[in-house]
Amino acid sequence: MTFEIPVERTLQPKTKPAEDKLGFGKYFTDHMLIMDYEEGAGWHAPRIIPYQPITLDPAAKVFHYGQTVFEGLKAYRTADDKVLMFRPQMNLSRLNASNRRLSIPEIDEALALEALKKTVWADRDWIPAAPGTSLYVRPFIIATEPLLGVSPSLKYRFMIIMSPVGAYYSEGINPVSIHVEAEYVRAVAGGVGEAKTAGNYAAGLKAQQEASGRGYSQVLWLDGVHREYIEEVGSMNVFFRIGDRVVTPALNGSLLAGVTRDSVLKLLRHWGVPVEERAVSITEIADAHRDGTLHEAFGTGTAAVVSPIGELSWQGEAMTIGGGWMGELAQRLYDTLTGIQTGRLADEFGWRVELGEG
Ligand code: COI
Repeated sequence: MTFEIPVERTLQPKTKPAEDKLGFGKYFTDHMLIMDYEEGAGWHAPRIIPYQPITLDPAAKVFHYGQTVFEGLKAYRTADDKVLMFRPQMNLSRLNASNRRLSIPEIDEALALEALKKTVWADRDWIPAAPGTSLYVRPFIIATEPLLGVSPSLKYRFMIIMSPVGAYYSEGINPVSIHVEAEYVRAVAGGVGEAKTAGNYAAGLKAQQEASGRGYSQVLWLDGVHREYIEEVGSMNVFFRIGDRVVTPALNGSLLAGVTRDSVLKLLRHWGVPVEERAVSITEIADAHRDGTLHEAFGTGTAAVVSPIGELSWQGEAMTIGGGWMGELAQRLYDTLTGIQTGRLADEFGWRVELGEG
């Protein structure tokens, strides 16, 4: 099935930033996609228009009650100038899982995939080619009905914006230092922790601000009930290599089901590395650090890719991991994932979607 998505091209294309100065999420491309929802009409009239500010009623529900969801995925330019996206269907099914949790009407995933492809294609000249760069694609939905009563909005807007990016952390792929958060919590099972919704990130800002004041890049969240079991880092899932196995927190309802997390699990299993998805306590990690069996720690995420964790601070103890260098497994995962994503390696798992005209 094909969907009609008209494109209005900008008359004022912007100057593109230098590929070695991209950072993360600072520059936006020339176009964006918008599509609206109203009761009765459903999701309708997707269109690609020049990137521009939008006008919203100050009473729009998103401003007051945070009814909003988002996704993050990337498009890559290959050495022979093809355009690839990585597992976009997984992002779209997670978008609908977030929609269900936030009482937002689900979106047709085939239509949303077509919208993603057409929007990326419209700005394909913006996809950077330098190693470690990509086009970050941010689909999101906001509740637009102007009404202060607390009830699900009757109107929504879906948008896709895009940003050429380099590494998420200023450290690049060098190890980051992370503070284990003992005071604040991010989410509890039954809440919205497993949805990709703005409030989860807003709830984390205070802890992140305090940790960054002490020189840490991010916080590692512990569970909200026991303050003992590891959940995730602000913008990534976490993995630990202890002895001969790799452990990562199981999806327990309060952490995000990362697409990169899933890809890393599949690669590790394919390589025959023993992997455990289960409850992982911070005490277990500190013990493993003390007895010398904690060989590696790393985060995974679309923005972060595979980012080594060089130091974890917990209860005044600074645990240095892997001598502060990227571990061999994290490096292999990073090289393999980015190799598949950018077309350098074969796509054994069928993860890539190639874009083209039409
Ligand atoms: C992503 O990795 O795409 C994320 O959404 C993390 C982010 C909040 C920068």
